[in-house]
Amino acid sequence: MSKKMIQDIEVQGKRVLMRVDFNVPMNDEGVITDDKRITAALPSIEYLIKNGAKVILMSHFGRPDGKVVDTLRLDPIAKHLSTLIGKTVIKVNDCIGDEPAQAISSMQAGDVVLLENVRFYAEEEANDPEFAKKLASLGDIYVNDAFGAAHRGHASTAGAAQYLPAVSGFLMEKELQFLGGAISNPKRPFVAILGGAKVKDKIKVIESLLEKVDTLIIGGGMAYTFLQGQGYEIGNSLLDAERVEFCKEVLVKAKAKGVSLLLPEDVVAATHFAPDAEHKIVDIDAIPSEWQGLDIGPKTLKIFVKAVEDAQTVIWNGPMGVSEFPAFAAGTNGLAEALAASSAITIIGGGDSAAAVEQAGLAEKMTHVSTGGGASLEFLEGKKLPGVEALNDK
Ligand code: 3PG
Repeated sequence: MSKKMIQDIEVQGKRVLMRVDFNVPMNDEGVITDDKRITAALPSIEYLIKNGAKVILMSHFGRPDGKVVDTLRLDPIAKHLSTLIGKTVIKVNDCIGDEPAQAISSMQAGDVVLLENVRFYAEEEANDPEFAKKLASLGDIYVNDAFGAAHRGHASTAGAAQYLPAVSGFLMEKELQFLGGAISNPKRPFVAILGGAKVKDKIKVIESLLEKVDTLIIGGGMAYTFLQGQGYEIGNSLLDAERVEFCKEVLVKAKAKGVSLLLPEDVVAATHFAPDAEHKIVDIDAIPSEWQGLDIGPKTLKIFVKAVEDAQTVIWNGPMGVSEFPAFAAGTNGLAEALAASSAITIIGGGDSAAAVEQAGLAEKMTHVSTGGGASLEFLEGKKLPGVEALNDK
């Protein structure tokens, strides 16, 4: 069932308490190095300002573990947001209690307040009902636009929604529309590309996608456990020994379901894990015993690109190699280019693959780049997200 949205509810003059995910990368000087999560929340923020709401924003930032950590205060974010929206964002130094209450009581319609990092309280992650009630008391309406944190059942992402009319923001809606649409009603052929280091992290998503896709592409560090399961010698490549059996079962299941499962046929093997390691392209039956695969090879890239070219829907989560080392980024970048050139619906799960697409300057060419790393993965696993479940049904 779809959830109520901001435009389904009267916001004029109301205190709108909106959970956003401003957990952005920041360098030691307090400079935000990628503000995508902030810009992605602008449609909701600007809509609320335009419609005369009093906008009260709350977010977590980092993992302060229930303590006040000065470097994890939201002041640099308030400053950046002020610049983006062209008006002062009033930053308060707490998220509950007198200071926010006073600042909110003197708000005019269209003003924006940013509360302090909600994770300075251990009650946030514990989803403590009293804490959630205190947060909720700051608003008349609750909006969740924090898709990136929707897999967390915390006080600000789920608990507070129990005490107020609770609706989704535009970003949340967009994420659910694209990720949900691809999963429940994909245009076919439907191709999923999974990469990243660990099989462990992708078990559930593999199981879930096997039921839905026409083609499943597996690259990145996790591919080597599959290759070992097929009987190849993978040298010092990443191996999840406990999950070789699982990988073998996936191969059998894919065959039984008629899902085409594509694995690397050649790799870029290196002497060790380093940006400047000696490396060469080898077929998967020729990985030298002391070497390790750090990227897919060009033959593999061609096969994967062909699958993308034939697709109508593509979902991608996880890099094909160690893409932070330029010598081992060709597979990830080549695939990003293929998706950018494709006329298919292209959806990039958040996290590393979103970063790779951004870095390659190709984000604009994708149908949708998710702002959720863990959240998009859990969504693709078919899990219900607490931050979504807590909202009112239409
Ligand atoms: C993220 O960065 O994926 C979200 O903001 C959630 O952060 P968390 O993993 O610390 O809960």
